[in-house]
Amino acid sequence: MQEQIIRDLEQALEGQLNFQEIDELLEKPKYDHLGDVAFPCFSLAKKLRKSPQIIAAEVAGKLQKKLYKDVQPVGGYINIYYKQENEINRILNRILNEQKNYGSKHAVNANVVIDFSSPNIAKPFSMGHLRSTVIGNALANLAEKNGFQAIRINHLGDWGTQFGKLIVAYKLWGDREAIASSPIEELLKIYVKFHEEAEKQPELNDLARQAFKGLEETDEEATELWKWFREVSLAEFTKVYEQLGISFDSYHGEAFYNDKMEPAIQELKEKGLLVESDGAYVVEVEDMPPCLITKKDGATLYATRDLAAAMYRWQEYEPAKFLYVVGNEQSLHFNQLFAVIQKMGYGWSERLMHVPFGMVLKDGKKMSTRKGKVVLLTDVLSETIEMAKKNIELKNPTLEEKEKIAEYVGVGAVIFNDLKNHRMNDIEFSIEQMLNFEGETGPYIQYTFARISSLLYRAQYRPGYMEFASLGEAAWPAILLLDEFPKTVEEAYDQADPSLVAKYALRLARAYNKYYAKIKVLADDEAKQQRLAFSCCVAIVLEEALRLLGMKAPKNM
Ligand code: ARG
Repeated sequence: MQEQIIRDLEQALEGQLNFQEIDELLEKPKYDHLGDVAFPCFSLAKKLRKSPQIIAAEVAGKLQKKLYKDVQPVGGYINIYYKQENEINRILNRILNEQKNYGSKHAVNANVVIDFSSPNIAKPFSMGHLRSTVIGNALANLAEKNGFQAIRINHLGDWGTQFGKLIVAYKLWGDREAIASSPIEELLKIYVKFHEEAEKQPELNDLARQAFKGLEETDEEATELWKWFREVSLAEFTKVYEQLGISFDSYHGEAFYNDKMEPAIQELKEKGLLVESDGAYVVEVEDMPPCLITKKDGATLYATRDLAAAMYRWQEYEPAKFLYVVGNEQSLHFNQLFAVIQKMGYGWSERLMHVPFGMVLKDGKKMSTRKGKVVLLTDVLSETIEMAKKNIELKNPTLEEKEKIAEYVGVGAVIFNDLKNHRMNDIEFSIEQMLNFEGETGPYIQYTFARISSLLYRAQYRPGYMEFASLGEAAWPAILLLDEFPKTVEEAYDQADPSLVAKYALRLARAYNKYYAKIKVLADDEAKQQRLAFSCCVAIVLEEALRLLGMKAPKNM
């Protein structure tokens, strides 16, 4: 529609402004009653030495009235009201034609690296890691929708002095079989025990240091143990990834950079950036504490490995963007890291972006997987799925494939509960609330999709071009939302904010349900096929929105 309006205005203005200039001037009025689009005449007034009111009236008089529902010159603006019929045909037929590609951008042949999830080996997968996983996955999907190649990297925490402690602890108290059957729980147990014992016998710490040194120098026994810890832990994490339906392109964790730090440190030295401080080496960065590169004993740190990782990723992928989806509490670390890379003179430091997020709360308090008894994430997910199953049992006891659908709904509820708020907000983890079929929840949207799917199925509807001549007013709010989908997808990626898509999906589902409450979609009259086609468009966009968020859209629920 916009294009047609611009051409019409171009003609009416008789060459005063070109297509692009008109496009830039057009605005969306603040209030609906002021039209669908408005053309301000203030900048022309100067040029033509006439009042904007007069120009608006003159130009409005020259527009082709039959294209619009109404044209009104008001206070120096020309307010234009669309003919709904034209808009409806344009929007809905585009969706019927493009289907799930609606809103997709052309491929741009550029990589976006997304570092997300990244749990620590031999430690529980925390709620924070869950948030990173869910947000990172949605961002990767959004990057792809916007034409980029997404590279999903799981930067596993599989290196550091804690592995020395773990090796010592294992040799003293480890039970191979117990670890094999529940790795994280058992490894954590001996890790905790190590700390308790080390209080009493400090020499354990020396043993741990030695063990880690052995690991760094590829001592065979230490390496074997480390590999095993990594393997069994990863197997447990993989269960969560499978439930969430998430996969990665790379599991290069911190250990992978073991032999890549030395060249990076060398480069810092050559560039004169490395400063000695009490035997340790640091890089000084403006307005922040210095970034620690090596400790007194020569050991490298988390930041050293991230520096090597960023350089490696640049060489490997030349990303257009590097996203690090990591909790808010690591902001300082990433600011330091990015500043160091900038000081090294790398222009690509501008492409690095920390995507922080808030905490997970339960009853208003931080939900911790560390203190006291371990809450395993797999258990939390199983509980949610179990609850979803009970709900289904009550609502739709004859449903086929109950197990699978309960998993889609339970997992979807967790994902949506996370993504419906801006990521910087803390989120409340209440299984009951997030499964509420009527609330602002994942199941509510899934249910709306399933409802439409069943309508389409009952009517044996096949999507194809449709002449929309008598769809009726009630569909209009949802159609306007459908038109906003491409823009929403673009903004969500640009702002690294999946909540824009989640909120959009809620609005669309609500608008459709309002329509559904008023209108009998399956009534046998001449507009039935139009109502089905419109419903199908809503289903297409809802399904695609859910997919972007990382959720499944079952056809029956
Ligand atoms: N393993 C780290 C943690 O659990 C997160 C790693 C994030 N990614 C990174 N490149 N630093 O805190």
